[in-house]
Amino acid sequence: MSNKPDHYYVTTPIYYVNDKPHIGHSYTTILADVLANYHRLLDVPTHFLTGTDEHGQKVQQAADKNGITPQQQCDQTVIRFQELWKRLEITNDDFIRTTEPRHKTVVQQILQELYEKDEIYKAEYEGWYCVGCERFFAEKDLVEGNCPECGRKVDSIVESNYFFRMGKYQQWLIDYIETHPDFIQPAFRANETLGFLKNKELQDLCISRPKSRLAWGIDLPFDSDFVTYVWFDALINYISAIGYKSDDEQFKKWWPCSCQLIGKDILTTHTVYWPTMLKAMGVEMPKTVFAHGWWLTGRTKMSKSLGNVVNPMDMIDNYGVDAFRYFLIAEMTLGQDASFTEEAFVKRYNSDLANDLGNVANRVLSMIDRYCDGKIPVRSNSVDTNDPIENNPGMEQDIWIAVSAISTEVGEKISAMKLDSAVGSIMSAVRMINVYLQERAPWSLAKQEGKEELLNHCLYTAAECLRVCAGLLYPVMPAKMLELRTALGMADAKPHVGKLSKFGVLIPGSAISQPGALFPRIEVEKVDAASSRVAPAKQPVKPPKAGGTAPSPSTPPPDGLITFDQVMNVQLKTAVVLAAEKIEGADKLLKLQIDLGTEKRQLVAGIALHYTPESLIGKTIVVVANLKPAKLRGVESQGMLLAASLGDSLKLVTVDGSIGPGAAVK
Ligand code: ME8
Ligand code: MG
Repeated sequence: MSNKPDHYYVTTPIYYVNDKPHIGHSYTTILADVLANYHRLLDVPTHFLTGTDEHGQKVQQAADKNGITPQQQCDQTVIRFQELWKRLEITNDDFIRTTEPRHKTVVQQILQELYEKDEIYKAEYEGWYCVGCERFFAEKDLVEGNCPECGRKVDSIVESNYFFRMGKYQQWLIDYIETHPDFIQPAFRANETLGFLKNKELQDLCISRPKSRLAWGIDLPFDSDFVTYVWFDALINYISAIGYKSDDEQFKKWWPCSCQLIGKDILTTHTVYWPTMLKAMGVEMPKTVFAHGWWLTGRTKMSKSLGNVVNPMDMIDNYGVDAFRYFLIAEMTLGQDASFTEEAFVKRYNSDLANDLGNVANRVLSMIDRYCDGKIPVRSNSVDTNDPIENNPGMEQDIWIAVSAISTEVGEKISAMKLDSAVGSIMSAVRMINVYLQERAPWSLAKQEGKEELLNHCLYTAAECLRVCAGLLYPVMPAKMLELRTALGMADAKPHVGKLSKFGVLIPGSAISQPGALFPRIEVEKVDAASSRVAPAKQPVKPPKAGGTAPSPSTPPPDGLITFDQVMNVQLKTAVVLAAEKIEGADKLLKLQIDLGTEKRQLVAGIALHYTPESLIGKTIVVVANLKPAKLRGVESQGMLLAASLGDSLKLVTVDGSIGPGAAVK
């Protein structure tokens, strides 16, 4: 755990209040929550803001339809978000609504100041308006006459309006983005904004609407016939909420914002409008605007207007909050799009949570219950200091060192906004504990005379490793991980950086409890694996030419086809990577120690340009188990792993879900 900032301020977009929150909104908010939880765990003063965007035509229309005032409409619908965040255990420090006086006052002050500085002027406007996006577009920007952002129909508009002199900041913004690589992330999104800025003349921004057309907004302080345009109003929430122009001390404490999370749909507003607005106000830029990808249903964006949304409340009801949070964080590679299916959810739940994590937790707790009278056992110093009381006395140190190394790696990954990968690392630590238990076999130590000390030490170490994993997963699954850490006999179960990855935190003698199944397996209709496997095809075997012999395995037959038996000669098995290191002087090779179920082996693989040694540990790979050993650069390799490669890209072949080492791959 490293890279500790002095403060951490994270924001989500403020969501349109009339939308029904779906998985997309949940995702951004959970992401912010995980980051906030993580920074709190590091003892970094943290502020987490979310809220709702309550002005605009859509709210007005909904209110008209329902025969209520727009404010009543907002008051009714904001509850959906607030309740969902409560159910999702979101720990936001503040919730801003743009209809609150504390926000409106600041928006008006900013407008007035910018108007006085001639950053805002009045002019005749002719253009096209998209109600869905609440944005104006020039004729030339339309795509087949429709909104270039969402593809919906746009309305033609001619009217007087107020404009913000955004265009004059074009070159400044290009320079700023180019000299601040952290400002827009991931980097390819910065390029997207730069591409747009470099290829088009940046227009001034229309920031108003005449009240005759829309009354539901914030009045322009210098012309009461107009209200401000939604984005100008909405973006300001990020500073009005923390005391800009009202509480200097508070504002200085949190601004510049550490991380502004958004979906890629609102990249332009956050990386063009927002920075130029701040620049005109003389306010520092946020450190990072991070745009994540979209949750898709199939291949289309999940959105209310498309009617393909997954209701987060249903997922929580069916599978629990923690599993839902876990899935969203683990499944989406931050920055990319991801597809949401219940099948994928169930699969990941069963393999990561029910199987890997649930299994380790259950094993450790029930063995402590059975063999140690339900109390955290005593760790043994003599075992710890390598006393040769067992053939491999270093195993406990090894597993501990490996798990602590992962804790450092997780910190680095979170700082680099690789949350999915951080979760992947924690899961590999969890699997390593399973592998360790399998090898140390405490159940058989329990049957042997004179092995109590080692048995205790083993279970103490396993419990400690589990405690660390649960601590690292706490930001993602707070409730379940507190439950697990409490079950491990911790009086103060909330993880804290000071203790998280120190050895010896669990107190021997403290009573553990059995929390029941943390993540009960979700039963799905059993797929008959055998029936889905491709049956051996009855290939028309060409009779060998007269006098000839069947082709030897090393010379493929002329038609390129091999027989079923030939395939069966190759023994493919699953293996778990226990250790990996670089080979000196060979920049493409890695030396791996693998567990083949019945034995351990060493492999040399040419994957060093594609995988770091650390990233391989705990992975289940597929190897050719009956390959004749060979030496590569003087290092013995007992087998070969399978990998897929295309062009410059290479990916290891793994199995879909959890299966122990040594499983036959057919
Ligand atoms: O745009 N996948 O609000 P909004 C991932 N009020 N994330 C998604 C998503 C999806 N399919 N759908 C929505 C607005 N989101 C403005 C913002 S900010 C000053 C004003 C998430 O209700 C994602 O964070 O349309 C996206 O940017 C946001 O919800 C849009 O929410
Ligand atoms: Mg939207």
